[in-house]
Amino acid sequence: MNALVRWLSLGAVVTTLVIGGGTLWRVLAASPADQDVKTGRAVYTQYCATCHGTSGRGDGPSAAGLATKPADLTDGRLMNALPDEFLVNVVERGGPAEGLAPTMPGFGAYLGAEQIRQLVVFMRTLAQPAFSPSMARPLVTVPGAPTQPIFFSHVIHAGSFQIACQHCHSDARRSEYAGLPSVERCMGCHKIIGATDNPEIRKIHDYYQRREAIPWVRVFKIPEFTYFPHKAHVRVGVECQTCHGPIERMRVVGADTGRNLRQDLLSLVGFRRGAPPLTMGWCIDCHRDYNRKKNTKAPLDCVTCHH
Ligand code: HEC
Ligand code: HEC
Ligand code: HEC
Ligand code: HEC
Ligand code: HEC
Ligand code: HEC
Repeated sequence: MNALVRWLSLGAVVTTLVIGGGTLWRVLAASPADQDVKTGRAVYTQYCATCHGTSGRGDGPSAAGLATKPADLTDGRLMNALPDEFLVNVVERGGPAEGLAPTMPGFGAYLGAEQIRQLVVFMRTLAQPAFSPSMARPLVTVPGAPTQPIFFSHVIHAGSFQIACQHCHSDARRSEYAGLPSVERCMGCHKIIGATDNPEIRKIHDYYQRREAIPWVRVFKIPEFTYFPHKAHVRVGVECQTCHGPIERMRVVGADTGRNLRQDLLSLVGFRRGAPPLTMGWCIDCHRDYNRKKNTKAPLDCVTCHH
């Protein structure tokens, strides 16, 4: 109660000072975070506003000449899920570091790490709805993830833009396979988005014109002599991430049977100890667990999984 009263009277003092516009207010208010925002804003005005606009809406004077429009940094729906690490990487090394257009230049040669950190603190203040740290989803790097023919980012599609998994992997609920999207499916959006100035997206157009499928490198694979139907698992409500890990946080998709992701997967499905993902022990453990806890009829007999 006392604290509340103090708070309220402090509020009154501060309000008076704000109205008065006195220098004392500025001294009182200059917390480290405010300093970061202030410095960040100054750096932003000097280096970024020409494209992203003074307000951050992506409408600066240089934006008109760009085919891929500078990102609207005020759109919290798109920006808030992206972790600091992603934003720092784009500002330091340029758009291509995350598969984005090279018309977003890298500033690593001009700005130090501290300035880039302050820029990110400032950018966070632009977002509507307002940013809070719990909204950012840290990236997951899976060792040994392959290099794909096109730098396709789940962080952007499934993380930031929140396109549903099954929009692209549309066979998952009705067949054995989840399936990869066709070139036509990509073109449905990319006829327009990023068509002329992002070389990664130009590749989609090249495959489309040559009538070739994009030769994606397969990541999750079990041997031919086993039968795995997606349909049955999706229908019973097992999340994609339970088996594949947090795909929407992977810059490049990989299947890790090593320590970290494995631990995550195991704790997700409630195992204390368990077999590495994609092994027979992993399938069986989960089937047993589900049958016991959820009364499902997941098969444990050899022939259902091995015809
Ligand atoms: C020459 C124009 C230009 C300048 C200068 C510029 N940007 Fe960009 N920026 C872009 C474009 C274009 C994109 C969109 C790229 C895409 O979507 O493929 C972008 C994208 C971004 C993104 C990615 C946002 C997202 O949603 O993925 C961030 C963050 C960003 N810019 C921050 C900055 C900062 C900070 C500065 C100043 C240090 C800056 N930009 C300067 C053109 C510019
Ligand atoms: C539902 C619409 C949609 C579909 C379908 C789609 N994309 Fe995208 N894609 C987007 C949006 C939105 C962006 C972000 C645009 C921006 O701000 O730069 C994007 C960005 C990209 C980028 C640049 C950033 C990155 O992710 O590296 C590439 C490359 C890309 N898409 C490839 C593909 C490929 C390949 C396919 C098909 C497998 C595909 N997209 C399907 C909407 C879509
Ligand atoms: C815009 C289309 C798009 C969306 C949305 C999308 N994906 Fe993908 N996904 C792809 C493409 C293209 C590939 C192949 C390239 C790669 O591995 O990154 C892929 C690869 C994968 C793979 C690895 C396939 C293999 O070879 O084993 C998994 C698993 C996956 N996606 C799961 C998901 C999940 C889970 C979501 C939702 C959180 C999702 N995807 C959302 C397009 C998409
Ligand atoms: C119960 C575990 C499990 C769940 C849940 C699951 N997958 Fe899979 N997924 C696998 C396995 C195992 C493979 C390898 C299958 C093979 O090699 O035949 C795979 C393969 C894939 C592939 C590679 C292409 C293909 O069709 O084989 C994609 C893409 C994929 N999954 C996406 C998804 C998406 C999207 C979801 C959610 C809608 C999902 N998966 C749910 C276990 C799972
Ligand atoms: C829930 C599905 C499932 C069931 C039930 C199942 N298996 Fe498997 N089995 C797999 C998968 C997936 C693999 C491939 C991954 C691996 O080698 O661990 C496999 C691999 C194997 C292998 C090859 C191992 C190797 O090292 O190459 C043999 C042999 C095998 N299973 C025999 C059996 C027998 C016998 C039964 C019945 C007692 C059985 N399986 C039940 C899914 C299953
Ligand atoms: C995260 C838990 C989980 C994992 C991991 C898992 N399954 Fe399943 N599986 C289930 C559940 C739950 C069912 C559905 C039971 C039901 O419908 O009653 C199921 C059903 C099945 C079925 C029966 C399909 C049908 O049409 O009835 C097969 C075959 C199968 N799983 C194979 C596999 C194989 C092979 C693997 C390993 C590569 C695997 N599963 C991994 C949970 C899992």
